[in-house]
Amino acid sequence: MINLLEHLANEPSPLQELPNIRNMRLFVKRDDLLHPDISGNKWRKLKYNLLEARRLGFNKLLTFGGAYSNHLAAVAAAGKEFGFSTLGVVRGERALPQNPTLTYVEGCGMELKYVDRANFRNKSHISLLESIKINPDEYYILPEGGSNCLAVKGCAEMVGEIERQLGGLPGCICTACGTGATLAGIVSGLQGRGAALGVSVLKGDFLKIEVAGLLEKCGQAPFQNWQINGDYHFGGYAKFTPGLIDFINSFKQRTGIPLDPIYTGKLFYAVFDLVEKGFFEKGSTVVLVHTGGLQGVVGFNERFGNLIA
Ligand SMILES: Cc1ncc(COP(=O)(O)O)c(C=O)c1O
Repeated sequence: MINLLEHLANEPSPLQELPNIRNMRLFVKRDDLLHPDISGNKWRKLKYNLLEARRLGFNKLLTFGGAYSNHLAAVAAAGKEFGFSTLGVVRGERALPQNPTLTYVEGCGMELKYVDRANFRNKSHISLLESIKINPDEYYILPEGGSNCLAVKGCAEMVGEIERQLGGLPGCICTACGTGATLAGIVSGLQGRGAALGVSVLKGDFLKIEVAGLLEKCGQAPFQNWQINGDYHFGGYAKFTPGLIDFINSFKQRTGIPLDPIYTGKLFYAVFDLVEKGFFEKGSTVVLVHTGGLQGVVGFNERFGNLIA
């Protein structure tokens, strides 16, 4: 099992150049193609965590997430593929009919426990688990979004891949930010070289502190070669505008690359807008990380009426 995991996780994802970009080169790091069900940054975040869970002798994984969470979907799929039983603690009440993400995770064998939003937000993991009669000692616990130092270590590996694929570092590596662990991983992989840009999909400016805190916790130097842009959240988490939806649909038509409206759609919209505004140096090479999230499109379309083609 572990050999299979290591083998799969060491295959680099493709780096795809986008055509017809004026004055610079744009590449997409296709982490969405890393694995059909454990896609994008989830694969990178889970790799060392799954190996650690096995090393410590756990055969049960437990994690937390919202009802449409890409992370829950990835943990459920990883449990099924690599032989862990899985338990997902879901934010909010159980709603029927069940959405496609939760139907999928249950189909993978994940057990679900629901916790109301206030308790989910305010309680520590341990007291939350006690309140739903779960013994935390039985599980390898992954935080919400899978964002811990082993996740940062996994995400850092994409930098070496990109460097080998391009024959050098690009001017900037760009990623969508939710918890900020993927950006922290890129910053840690860069080790002060090049630059990284995070595009926040959330309203508010707390992410800079989160990422700096995570880097410090994971033993990284206080690097200065990264920043977070907070101008492209489109109203907040999972909020969108017709302009964002048009961008996602026409981008797919032009390039064949599917994007999701929660994370990668906002990132790609932002980077194209920043290119227009002259944010990146003329002649520079920029890499956009496709962090996956496409499983969420089915549930999004079901809620909002097939907006994403
Ligand atoms: C598809 C996708 N892209 C990007 C992110 C953001 O990653 P991070 O939480 O590491 O900032 C997430 C989840 O958090 C995600 O599911």
